[in-house]
Amino acid sequence: MALLELEEVRAGYGPTSVLHGISLSVQEGQVVSLLGANGAGKTTTLRTITGGVRWSGNIRFAGRSLNRMHTEDVVRCGIAHVPEGRGILTDLSVDENLKLGSYLRHDGQAVRKDYERVFEYFPVLRERRRLSASTLSGGEQQMLAIARALLMKPKLMLLDEPSLGLAPMVVRAIFEIIRTINQADGVAVLLVEQNARIALEMSSQAYVLEVGRLAVKGSSAELKGNESVRRSYLGY
Ligand SMILES: Nc1ncnc2c1ncn2[C@@H]1O[C@H](COP(=O)(O)OP(=O)(O)OP(=O)(O)O)[C@@H](O)[C@H]1O
Ligand SMILES: [Mg+2]
Repeated sequence: MALLELEEVRAGYGPTSVLHGISLSVQEGQVVSLLGANGAGKTTTLRTITGGVRWSGNIRFAGRSLNRMHTEDVVRCGIAHVPEGRGILTDLSVDENLKLGSYLRHDGQAVRKDYERVFEYFPVLRERRRLSASTLSGGEQQMLAIARALLMKPKLMLLDEPSLGLAPMVVRAIFEIIRTINQADGVAVLLVEQNARIALEMSSQAYVLEVGRLAVKGSSAELKGNESVRRSYLGY
């Protein structure tokens, strides 16, 4: 059984339909890329999963239907969303942002352990704990957003363009940690990226969206090796 499964999902904003029947799945512990040009519907797909958009069709997570579920309950099921633009609250300190990740948890001792782990992954966040999140660089804010998601102890992370606006070295560092989180913590990842090259390095399976429809799906190795797919859809 897949951890996450979307079946013929349609979604949109008011009268505008954006997703025209999307089916995809993520297995437990798997990294899956969701690629596509600007406006293809990648962000909308993630918002649909977390209940931020009206949708129809079927979405199941760990065997449970997410139909009509509120965002907070989706989070409780084990899905952590790191949104486009990161969703950091810049009026709050780094620590306060991190606490937003763990506030639904009652396993205090495990939470403390997870804080230690997060600070191992991102030492800079420990140094800046008491500072306003607004003082962090773009890369550090992305780290904070991922750290906060990790503190939710999710089974699945939805990452929306973690590389956006970051220097190549910072992107590599962040993807290294995403890989570690996947492998050491067993967290499955649905990775939305414009940077197809790096996304395909990370993932085992990939989907390409084209204006609200799936244009291509396959193993990441297959997509990387297919020159016409690369040229037509991946832009490299
Ligand atoms: N809140 C909204 N209200 C109305 N239309 C929206 C809204 N958000 C997105 N759209 C439209 O939905 C379509 C898909 O947008 P979406 O943000 O999902 O694309 P995307 O693949 O994430 O693009 P990008 O790579 O630019 O982030 C676009 O045509 C966009 O204009
Ligand atoms: Mg987007």
